Amino acid sequence: MPHPDRFLLAGVMGWPVMHSRSPMMHNYWFKQHGLAGTYVPLAIPPERLAGALRGLHPLGFAGCNVTIPHKQQAMKIVDEVDTLATAIGAISCVVVRSDGSLAGTNNDCYGFIQSVKAEQPGWRADAGPIVVIGAGGGSRAVCYGLAREGAKEIRLVNRTLVRAQEIAVQFGSPIKALPWEQRHDALEGAAMVVNTTSMGMVGQPALDIRLDKLGKSALAADIVYIPLETPFLAAARKRGNRTMNGLGMLLNQGRPAWKAWFGIEPEVTPELRAMVEKTI
Ligand code: ATR
Repeated sequence: MPHPDRFLLAGVMGWPVMHSRSPMMHNYWFKQHGLAGTYVPLAIPPERLAGALRGLHPLGFAGCNVTIPHKQQAMKIVDEVDTLATAIGAISCVVVRSDGSLAGTNNDCYGFIQSVKAEQPGWRADAGPIVVIGAGGGSRAVCYGLAREGAKEIRLVNRTLVRAQEIAVQFGSPIKALPWEQRHDALEGAAMVVNTTSMGMVGQPALDIRLDKLGKSALAADIVYIPLETPFLAAARKRGNRTMNGLGMLLNQGRPAWKAWFGIEPEVTPELRAMVEKTI
């Protein structure tokens, strides 16, 4: 438990960052646990990232999350990166240690897998082939989590094939990199399809994919949460597929961050989810 006299500080560094729902979530947890503290959005352009991270300790921050576009750059700045984040190739969370050194980890993988398990009871990674669209940092966390959960075949489709191939080489056998043109056909026989690109996010065009080869029992997932229902998820729902958006991933990745910063593992309650949903 944190010392009762300590004012707890954490935040999220991003550019842009004001759209983030993380402050709302973390400040809900401070209130719920009766703790004095705050979680702030920190608008940090790339050229100020190193200075901002080094400023965490003198300012008394327990740590911070890092988001777009800092997840890979921050990994090079911190003093130590754990094996999970090293394997994923990006960090999502920085922990300030008592000596002022910075430790980087990645909670996106946990957040994604936890949210699937919570929202889709009985879900299994080995139920059938999984199609993952996109090969950026988000995709790496999702693919790593799915492979660790026992996925036997992950069809990884990306506009830039070489990025998908790099993941396939690094993560090994379940990952099969496929060219962008094959995204429609790759859905045949899949048990799950996940969009990890930014397509469909507010201000972005919809993900360009035809769903006619996707079986009706397949689960369609998106890691985007603004809007809650992307055009991709709306199309899947309309043809009878189960869907899940990226809000559960966001909420669940906050739990291990709190554990690392404050020694408490907070709950993702229906009340928290409803509160955040109301603002989207
Ligand atoms: P993040 O770390 O948030 O995942 P990223 O590394 O920039 O962000 O990855 C973004 C993903 O969205 C990539 O897979 C990217 O495809 P490329 O590797 O070809 O760049 C994908 N993406 C972005 N814009 C796209 C578009 N217009 N059409 C298809 N894919 C797109």
